[in-house]
Amino acid sequence: MGSFFPEEILDEIKDHNRIVEVISQYIQVKSSGGATYKALCPFHSERTPSFVINDQKQIYKCFGCGEGGDVIHFIMKIENLDFIDAVKFLAEKSNIPLEIENHSKEMKKEIQQKMLYYEINKKAAIFYYNNLIRGQNPALGYLLNRGLTTKIIKSFGIGYSYNTWNELLNYLVKDGYQLKDIEKCGLILPNKENTDHYDRFRNRVIFPIFDIRGNVIGFGGRVLDNGLPKYLNSPETILFNKSNTIYGLNFSRKHITDGKIILVEGYMDVIALYQEGFKNVVAALGTSLTKSHAQLLKKYCNEVIICFDGDEAGVKATIRSIDILKEAELNCKILLLPPNQDPDDFIKEKGKYAFDEYLDKAVSPIDYKIIQAKNKHNLALPEGKIEFVKELAAILKQIKSPVEREVYVQKIENEIGVSKQAIHMEIYGNKGTISYEKNLKYSSNNKRDNKYIEAVPPAEQNGHIMAEKKLIKTMLVKPDILTLIIKKIKPEDFSRGNHQLIVEYILNHNIGDQNQLVKDLPHLEKDIEDILTTDIEHLDVTKILEKYIVNLKRFKLMYQAKMLQQEQKKLMENNILNKEEVEKELLKIGMEIMKINIEIQRLQF
Ligand code: CTP
Ligand code: MN
Repeated sequence: MGSFFPEEILDEIKDHNRIVEVISQYIQVKSSGGATYKALCPFHSERTPSFVINDQKQIYKCFGCGEGGDVIHFIMKIENLDFIDAVKFLAEKSNIPLEIENHSKEMKKEIQQKMLYYEINKKAAIFYYNNLIRGQNPALGYLLNRGLTTKIIKSFGIGYSYNTWNELLNYLVKDGYQLKDIEKCGLILPNKENTDHYDRFRNRVIFPIFDIRGNVIGFGGRVLDNGLPKYLNSPETILFNKSNTIYGLNFSRKHITDGKIILVEGYMDVIALYQEGFKNVVAALGTSLTKSHAQLLKKYCNEVIICFDGDEAGVKATIRSIDILKEAELNCKILLLPPNQDPDDFIKEKGKYAFDEYLDKAVSPIDYKIIQAKNKHNLALPEGKIEFVKELAAILKQIKSPVEREVYVQKIENEIGVSKQAIHMEIYGNKGTISYEKNLKYSSNNKRDNKYIEAVPPAEQNGHIMAEKKLIKTMLVKPDILTLIIKKIKPEDFSRGNHQLIVEYILNHNIGDQNQLVKDLPHLEKDIEDILTTDIEHLDVTKILEKYIVNLKRFKLMYQAKMLQQEQKKLMENNILNKEEVEKELLKIGMEIMKINIEIQRLQF
């Protein structure tokens, strides 16, 4: 806990010695995108770089030899210094005086005051802890009864404040601390007449709140019965600011192995999960996650798994937190607990394996919002469905990628039987239908790599089929426009295999001789006849040509997108590839679909 140098000075030293700059002075460092940099590890010999620096988190890690830490750690290792000398080394480099005496008067005062308050808080925490484990009190039984071991009680420094008015006060005063300082720590309060002071926490289980370095900065006290308030917390002090303190982070930060943190609501949730081995757990103390909480979490993880209580307040807090995490550009998943259970209840009742399973099933923010919207409405009633679709549309509008959006639309259509068109209407308004695969069926035995793709519409009256026929007829009977058409369209732009063959034939033979066409392509006679009987009399060919061509191209692109989506679906159902491979493949296809969608959008303008 704490360290030889005041935190303020260590912070200043780290601020002035950014990790990438410092390490660059020893080895060659290359940016590898975002906040990460790579290098050949200076601590073991290697040919490909596995030494990674994270500029945002101000840490380094070698995935080859396991070496890692902050900038001070790096200097200790590379200069072969102990901690104190490494700090001195960096302080000298950036001209930061290490002796408090050499700092400005204000800073000196602030540092000394904070150090005093850390000390008082620590003394109080030890006092409460000793009360709990030594004395006769109802709290130890209460905690053991709630399933905590004495080991975890010790790790988290849980304590007890006796049901008396000035036990802590007397203890600290006896130890030489002044009333005003104890009061500034939020541990005692003045009475109404301002003639005396009394302990803030009485007859409560005490949870010390630590900062990231393990200094005690405040306390939460829980009643032992159903009294109110259930929890009483330290007020805001120089050390304790609720909106940027995260409970448990000092413990869990050492256990974040895969970049993920579980975020719960309360003290007991953190402790219960930690005890069961889910040590990457923290709480925002209550339900409202702030922007500074998110920024703090971002220093230690890439993904937050929200696991709030399964009650109404928990749902509301989850939705708020999702948005805050998104703004901070942190990935987020949501673990859905059974209604009216919190993580502590759950793990006690169902055990750690069940919790692990639930973790695996954590859902994306959009999925979560859809699930909540579903729960809110009675989907058995038409009105319920309408309300749901309205809410759903608002949720889906938040998705930037049209492809991703369509995946959800499809899912909802399958699940609750609201037509895609209806959902599209809600999302895009009346004219905004993008149901391009409407009325179309696709022959399934075609592969994407085939030269010609066949899309087989069930009904002939599809606009683009008619357009194709008219185009081909024009090519046949108005050879003067042929060169114009050739420039803009290729055989494979046509949707039907037969049409593609006919167009290819026309282009290769450069003919307008209809009889020759039938002779050479006897198996396509029916199609050729169809084309020849298509009416183009009233067609202003040059004017409408462009439109047809755009239509054909768009159709083709949409078809490709559709096939890719089917591939994605198959991938998701497959059980041969592992999760990582599937995700990689899905991403690849997703990118392809995205490109196609961009092309489609370009065509429209
Ligand atoms: N909280 C608070 N003040 C309150 C109530 C709650 O600060 N009056 C905070 C505490 O950090 C608490 C968290 O909100 O841990 C969640 O509250 P709640 O779900 O009511 O309590 P639990 O954590 O479930 O506590 P317990 O299991 O001990 O009942
Ligand atoms: Mn609880």
